[in-house]
Order: sequence, then structure tokens, then C-alpha cells
Amino acid sequence: MKILGLETSCDETAAAVVEVKGGRFKVLSNIVSSQVAIHRRFGGVVPEVAARNHLKNMIFVVDRALHGNGLSKIDLVAVNYCPGLITSLIVGVETAKALAYSLNKPLIGVDHLNAHLAAVYLDNPKIKYPALGLLVSGGHTQLIIMKKPNSFKVIGQTLDDAAGEAFDKVAKILKLGYPGGPIISRLAQAGQADAYALPRPMINKGHYDFSFSGLKTAVLYLVKGKKLSQKQVKDLCASFEQAVVDVLIAKTLKAAREQKVKTIILAGGVAANRKLRANLAQAIQKELPQVNFQVPAIEHCTDNAAMTAVAGYFVYQKRGADNLFKLTAQTD
Ligand code: KG4
Ligand code: ZN
Repeated sequence: MKILGLETSCDETAAAVVEVKGGRFKVLSNIVSSQVAIHRRFGGVVPEVAARNHLKNMIFVVDRALHGNGLSKIDLVAVNYCPGLITSLIVGVETAKALAYSLNKPLIGVDHLNAHLAAVYLDNPKIKYPALGLLVSGGHTQLIIMKKPNSFKVIGQTLDDAAGEAFDKVAKILKLGYPGGPIISRLAQAGQADAYALPRPMINKGHYDFSFSGLKTAVLYLVKGKKLSQKQVKDLCASFEQAVVDVLIAKTLKAAREQKVKTIILAGGVAANRKLRANLAQAIQKELPQVNFQVPAIEHCTDNAAMTAVAGYFVYQKRGADNLFKLTAQTD
């Protein structure tokens, strides 16, 4: 079975073809056209501009993803239909509907968050259930129990800013540019993580929820009215990154222990963060050595459509195709 995945939930126009053979996934193409260069000058994503650029790019991205694979060989079309920027999602959903209609092939609407978690299957790992997903993206921070693939129960989430959002906002405070995550983590590599004592919000609370807005405000007060040296900026980036990573790890280990999971899956754009990947792997190895740790390849952590295709496959197996005439884009 060959699945065409489409993703347009934010500022990446993406299309991918994933083949499923004997239960194993193989990425045949994975095209991502990023609009970062366009939105950078505004300091963040401008929804109307994003949607117009999806419209402009979509057909080229689909064409490249299909190159050599042939549209007629596609068996299933999967598209992220929620959550995200509504005008951006509409472009992907309506394109997917038109393709499925003209090909007379089944269509699946995929939840973008579930797709992030499904990215882990692209490497065909052996996953033992129950599994705990730590989903960290620009808009979400969630701890999710998975009893099997495509079964999700949220047990904790952020009460204010998402982890990625905190990276982006702190980068804005430090006037470093957009998107903040990759910039902060690059500068952090040359900084000292214990240079600034920043709070670890909710780290010792009994629940699985997160809060990152206080941490962002702590950075804001630290730098207010000051001109920081390059070394101080690097130290602050490292200290902030460590604070986020410490909270994410503490809550994940607590949930994994109490929920008695066999696997921990790290996913979402912030899962591209090397410090988080390394520190979480080390902490699991040290404190829960019987628990298996899985994280997608870095290029499958940030928004892409290969993850959409895999998630679409699981949804299709579970409940069959969506009604082409009823599927619509939704904000959440
Ligand atoms: O999953 P994603 O690509 O899009 C959403 O669904 O939101 O996540 C984007 C978020 C942004 O906030 C970005 O700053 C963050 O992921 N991000 C990172 C890194 N790469 C991307 N955060 C920390 N470290 C990174 N290396
Ligand atoms: Zn995403």
C-alpha cells in the first residue's frame, strides 16, 4: 500500500509518499517546503500569509513527492485536518479531497498531534505497550498514554505556553529571531547551563501538567533594561533550555513510573532538541532501565507529511476511510 500524506497546519507545506509492506514502513519521498524565510521578518507566523503560500506551493510539493512513484499507484490519501491555522489547514484538506476524488481512492483526516507521535513508526521500532508519549511542539505539550498504536489518552498538558512556544517567545525577548527553538539550542551549546538560576515550574507538583509562562517571564525580568554580552546571551539560552528540559524529564519519568509504561516516545518539533533527546535518554537509562526509549529521526520531529501518512494508515486500519464530502479542516 502506498500512502500520500499532506501537511499544511502551520508554515510548512509538506507532501510525502510512504509505502507499507508486511507491516513495515518505507519513506519513498518526504518533501517539506518551509516558509520560515517569509515569516521571519514578522517575528512569527502570519496566518493569512501562510495560507496564501500553501496555495502557491502545494501543487509543486505534491508533484515532487510523487516524482517517480506515479499518482495512479497511490492507494490512500491522508491529510492533517486539525489542529492548526484554519486557513492553512483548508489548503491541505481541500487538495487532499480533490486528489482522492479524482483518483477514486480513500481519504483519511489525521489529527496533527497523533501524526507527530506516529512519526516514531517510520523507523519500524518494536514498541511495547502501554507506552507514554511526550508530545512537545510549538502549540502543545502533552503526556499521552497509548495502549496500542492510534489509541491516545491525554494525562497531562501545559496550562499556558507550550514548550516550543516558550522557546520562540524567549528568543523574541532576546531578539534572536524566529523560530526560537533551533536558534536557542544552537547558542546554548556554547553557554553554561548553571549560569542563571531559573525556575522549574511545577516540577514537584503531584499532577502531570506543565506551565512555561512563568519561566518565560523570569527571563524577561532578568534581561529587562540590560544590555547582555554575547557570553551572557549564550549562558541564558543554556540555562533556559536546561530548565525546560529538566521539567519535561521530571514529569515524564514520574508519569512513566506511576503509569507503569514499557516505552517512552518523544515527539513533536521540540523533540528535535539534542539536549532533550540526550538528557531524556540518559535519565531513562539511569532511573527506568527496563523502559524502552523511542524518538523519531530529527527530520521526522518537526512538521512533515511522512508522519501524516503513517498516522493515516493506522486510522484507516482502525475505522476505514472518511467521508470525502464531510471532511473539513478544524482549528482544534
Ligand atoms: O511540531 P512543530 O514543527 O510545529 C508545531 O506543530 O507546532 O514544532 C515547532 C516548534 C517551534 O516552537 C520550534 O521553535 C520548536 O518546535 N523547535 C525546537 C527545536 N526545533 C524546533 N525547540 C527546541 N529545540 C529545537 N532544536
Ligand atoms: Zn507540528
